[in-house]
Amino acid sequence: MPIASTDNLLVQAQHERYGVGAFNVISLEHAQAIVIAAERERSPVILQLSQNAIAYHLGAIGPVGSACISLATSAEVPVAVHLDHATTWELCEEALDLGFSSVMFDASLMSLDANAEATAAIAARVHARRCSIEAELGVVGGKEGATSSEEGKTDPALAQWYVGATGVDAIAVAVGSSHYMVDKTAVLDLELITRLREALEIPLVLHGSSGVPDDDIREAVRRGIVKVNTATELNKAFTRAVRDFLSGDANVVDPRKYLHAARESVVAAVRSRLKILGSAGRA
Ligand code: G3H
Ligand code: ZN
Repeated sequence: MPIASTDNLLVQAQHERYGVGAFNVISLEHAQAIVIAAERERSPVILQLSQNAIAYHLGAIGPVGSACISLATSAEVPVAVHLDHATTWELCEEALDLGFSSVMFDASLMSLDANAEATAAIAARVHARRCSIEAELGVVGGKEGATSSEEGKTDPALAQWYVGATGVDAIAVAVGSSHYMVDKTAVLDLELITRLREALEIPLVLHGSSGVPDDDIREAVRRGIVKVNTATELNKAFTRAVRDFLSGDANVVDPRKYLHAARESVVAAVRSRLKILGSAGRA
């Protein structure tokens, strides 16, 4: 199957009112687990690679990015590959050259005008390559020392102006979640999601979903969130499995033993998320 278009996956989901899971890849095992889970659930899915994960891979997008594309094109269900939280055009261009479906350009820590100006310039270049772009307005805490706050939430009227000024295809909104949370105690502003949905026509993106209770994710999707980004939840599952395996067998040497356990644990975490999003059975 050819690599899926992120835009097509999101527009269809918005139309049919379910959420699309975008899961962060760190290792090959993560990417395999995400695709296996999507196939078992007959669900579309997005593999996403963040600028930070690429930095971990020694700054080279090629090896890990090509692996994601290879998995996407050999999957039995639609799989898109997305660049997450990029802050430079150079990295976006590398991703598009490799065959990624879409990029997120993250200028959320800039002033409103600087964010809009920089994002509009990148959006024009991405569209010239027939790919799609996500951008962020407001502050979703947890990255680069940012913290979520009432003032940092996305204002619907400003968001309407921003989407018109930049031409982006999807917008990450700050609605109470925060990155890297290991417990599910984030309080989503559900009423704000409804107002954003009414104000905007393009797909809304929830970042930092690992800290959000499952029922609130369901409700956020019901109110109009379309793309749901999940990273920490998978890393919790991965690391728990490795820790359990190693503490049960202090003599293990072959990494395949505990990485197999980690991959299976991520498959289970992704399958559970796909059911919550309502995308299971849609592919
Ligand atoms: O862009 C990726 C995410 O927003 C993931 O956030 O690690 O809190 O799930 P999370
Ligand atoms: Zn994020």
